[in-house]
Amino acid sequence: MARPQNIISALDIGSGYIKGIVVQSKKEGQEMAVLSVVSVFSDGIKRGVVVDGEVVSDKINQVLTKLNNEVRPHRIREVFINIGGAHIVSEPGHGAVAISRADQRVSQDDVDRVMEEAKAINITSNQEILNILPREFIVDSEPGLKDVVGMKGIKLEVNALAICVFSPFLNKLVETVISAGVEKVNEVIPSPIASAQALLSPQQRELGTAIIDIGAETTGLAVYEDRNLIHLAILPVGSAHITRDIAIALQVDISVAEEIKNKFGSYIFQNKTKKEKIIINKTEEFVFDTKKMIKAGRARVSEIFDLVNKELKKINKQEALPAGIVLTGGGSKLPGIVNFAKNELKLPVKKGSIKGFLGLEDDLSYSVLCGLVLSGLQEEGKESRILSNGIVSALVSALRKTIKTFTP
Ligand SMILES: Nc1ncnc2c1ncn2[C@@H]1O[C@H](COP(=O)(O)OP(=O)(O)OP(=O)(O)O)[C@@H](O)[C@H]1O
Ligand SMILES: [Mg+2]
Repeated sequence: MARPQNIISALDIGSGYIKGIVVQSKKEGQEMAVLSVVSVFSDGIKRGVVVDGEVVSDKINQVLTKLNNEVRPHRIREVFINIGGAHIVSEPGHGAVAISRADQRVSQDDVDRVMEEAKAINITSNQEILNILPREFIVDSEPGLKDVVGMKGIKLEVNALAICVFSPFLNKLVETVISAGVEKVNEVIPSPIASAQALLSPQQRELGTAIIDIGAETTGLAVYEDRNLIHLAILPVGSAHITRDIAIALQVDISVAEEIKNKFGSYIFQNKTKKEKIIINKTEEFVFDTKKMIKAGRARVSEIFDLVNKELKKINKQEALPAGIVLTGGGSKLPGIVNFAKNELKLPVKKGSIKGFLGLEDDLSYSVLCGLVLSGLQEEGKESRILSNGIVSALVSALRKTIKTFTP
């Protein structure tokens, strides 16, 4: 069922900012108008995870109130949201079933059954599968198949990728959003998958590429090949850690360190060692040694790419992604980071570019938000999947059963 006036709303609940958007799709999801975008400083979130529900709920409520004021008479009732945090992991799964129809043709029911089988992976009692995505189907040992319904055979297998989350964190997130004043959470999408939705072309996904979303306290990684998600990880380090290190190195307040990072961030990748100055509180002059700032900043950025390399190594994709790396997130705005990443990762690297969202194209901190909207547009026309207030946990699992795929 189409949403009222084809309006889609999304929230990106981040460690640095909570952002919200309301978009109206015009025809068949082809054209869209951004009706309102709001971003407020985040609080109550640590490394992508809600740690203080009340504080976060308050912040989300501020975002919703501002959005609602700008989109009157419409009122936001349902939202697409992201989920972040290092608890989100991807695990390979395998399923096998006998093809059930008498004519030996694969039915949708066989596909559903084999995907259910693939969910039998080792997870702890407080972990759950948020979604499971097929990588390839195999009919009678013929591998690499995508669309198998109608094919003739005896045995159907699937190699899949399950996205697992820590249930208490997922439940807390949904509860927090509901308590902030929405009625439904349409879908919960891991941040790097949402960014990929906004930034990657089908060709990039086919050839092999990875999104690196550098946020405030986390760095998200989503790797694609043969059009499939093949790995997902969220690393617990982001651009706010660079700020904190600069604050320690220069013995200044976080706000001053943030200003220094934003103004002189390009020095981090150059060897410009000199004295620089910045005006604090409009009057006070602060002179600092760029050498200290460079050392602190570069060590942290190196750490981020080291962690990314370790993840790529786990799936044998280190230095082996033909379509390279696409950088996004607020942290990717650091001048010079593209060349630095090229050296560290030994891969082609470029910044992402958000298309079709007038006014947001130049700001990569909005890629998750735009990706959530695009996922929402894809869902238009499909049966709506609802998480409502009340018995959140029960509905969370009901939702999970109905989720088939996040990507085209
Ligand atoms: N020009 C810049 N140079 C360096 N860093 C920047 C710049 N502009 C913004 N940032 C950093 O980007 C971060 C915010 O990015 P973003 O909005 O993507 O994070 P988030 O989504 O809130 O966090 P997370 O995804 O980790 O939960 C902040 O740490 C901020 O300092
Ligand atoms: Mg983010």
